[in-house]
Amino acid sequence: MSYTRRESFLPFTRPVIGQEEIAEIIDSIESGWITTGPKAARFEGELQRYNEVRHCLAMNSATTAQEISLQCLGLRQGDEVLTTSLTWVSTLSTVVLQGGVPVLVDIDPKTLNMDPARLEAAITPRTVGIIPVHLTGLPCPMEAIWKVAERHGLWVVEDAAQAMGARYAGRKIGSDRRSVMTVYSFHPNKNLTTGEGGAIAFHDQALASRIQRLRFHGIERDAWKRQSKEGSLHIDVEEPARKANFMDLQAAIGLHQLKKLDGFNARRGELFRRYFKLFRDMDEFLLPWEGDAVHEHCFHLFIARVLPEKAGLSRDAFVQALKEENIGSGIHYRPAHWHSFYKDFYERHAHALPKKGLPHTDWSGERLLSLPLWPGLTEEDQDQVVEAIRHVLSQARARRQVKV
Ligand SMILES: Cc1ncc(COP(=O)(O)O)c(C=O)c1O
Repeated sequence: MSYTRRESFLPFTRPVIGQEEIAEIIDSIESGWITTGPKAARFEGELQRYNEVRHCLAMNSATTAQEISLQCLGLRQGDEVLTTSLTWVSTLSTVVLQGGVPVLVDIDPKTLNMDPARLEAAITPRTVGIIPVHLTGLPCPMEAIWKVAERHGLWVVEDAAQAMGARYAGRKIGSDRRSVMTVYSFHPNKNLTTGEGGAIAFHDQALASRIQRLRFHGIERDAWKRQSKEGSLHIDVEEPARKANFMDLQAAIGLHQLKKLDGFNARRGELFRRYFKLFRDMDEFLLPWEGDAVHEHCFHLFIARVLPEKAGLSRDAFVQALKEENIGSGIHYRPAHWHSFYKDFYERHAHALPKKGLPHTDWSGERLLSLPLWPGLTEEDQDQVVEAIRHVLSQARARRQVKV
C-alpha cells in the first residue's frame, strides 16, 4: 500500500470544547460575574456527585491541590513521602517545597504505576505518607497500597490528575475513605478540562474550612458570598495563604465537560482498543495494559514503548521522525529523577532512592511514547498515525539494510 504523508499536523491531544461551553462562558461574561461565584459552587457540587465523594473543592490546578493537601497534613521538614518517579514533576516538587523528601519506589513495568511490593523496603521512621499516581488513567493497585499504609500508620493522597472517571474495585477514584485526599487536574490535556484547574476530594468535614482558607488568602468564605445580599460585612484572615481560587469562567467550561465526560472516556476507550488492532502485526512496541474489572481505565493516555533493538531507532528518533510525518506524540514522562534538580537532590538524599536504582522506571522512561488519543480523534486520523509509524519503521529498516 502506498503511503501518503498527512497534510496538516496532528497533535497528540486537543481539548474538545463545544458550543455549550462557549455559550456558558458568554453567559458568565454577560452576567457581570466572571471570577469565583455560583457556577464554581455548582461545578464543585456536580464534581462531588460524579466522583462519589463527600466533599470536593476546586482551585487553579492539581499542583496547588497537592500543595494544599500536604499543608493540611502538616508535612514537615525531613518528612518522607513514598511515590514514583514516572509522573509529572509536581508530584515530587510539592513535597520538596514543603521541606519533605519524596522517596522513590520503582514501577510495575506492566502498568507503569507504583509497585506496592516495593513500598515496605522504602519505609523509615521518617515516612509519613504515600502518593500513588494513577498514570495514564489506569488505577494503581490500591488495596495493597492501603494495606501497607494501615500497617505503618501512613496517610495516602492519590494523584488522580489523569484519572477522572476511572474506577478502582467498582468505585470512583477518590471515593474510598482509606485515602485522606485525592487530587484531580483539569489542564487542557486532561479527560475533563476547564482551561487550567484542579480539585481536592476528601471525606472529613473538618478539612473543608482549612482547604477553603488555604486556597484563598486564609479567608474561609469566597468573595462572591461577601458581596451577595446575605454576605457579612467584614472578612477575617485566619492564616496567611495563597490565592488559587477557581473562576466561574473555568466552571462554565467544566459544567458541560462533566456532562460529556463519560461519553468522552467511552470514545477514548474505543480508540485505545482500536490501537491494539492496528498494532496487531507489529513487534517493535510494547503496548499498554488496558486494565481489568478491578482497575477500570479512563484511557487518558495510550503509551506504547518503542523497542529500539527491533524498531531500529530510539524513542527520541521516533518522536522526531513522526513529527516530520506531521504526527504529534508525547513523552509522559521523562522520569523526575532524571531532571537536573532531582539528580542533585538524590545525590544529597541517596537513601531516598533504592540501592539498585529504579531499573523499571529507567527502562520505560527511555522508551515510552504517547500516541494521539482524544475523543475528537477520527478513525482516519488514527489510521494515519499507524501508517506513519509503519513508514518510519520501513525507512529505518531500509537504512539498516544499506549499512549491511
Ligand atoms: C500525574 C500528574 N500529576 C500532577 C499534574 C499537575 O496538574 P496541573 O497541571 O493541573 O497542576 C499532572 C499534570 O500534567 C499530572 O499528569
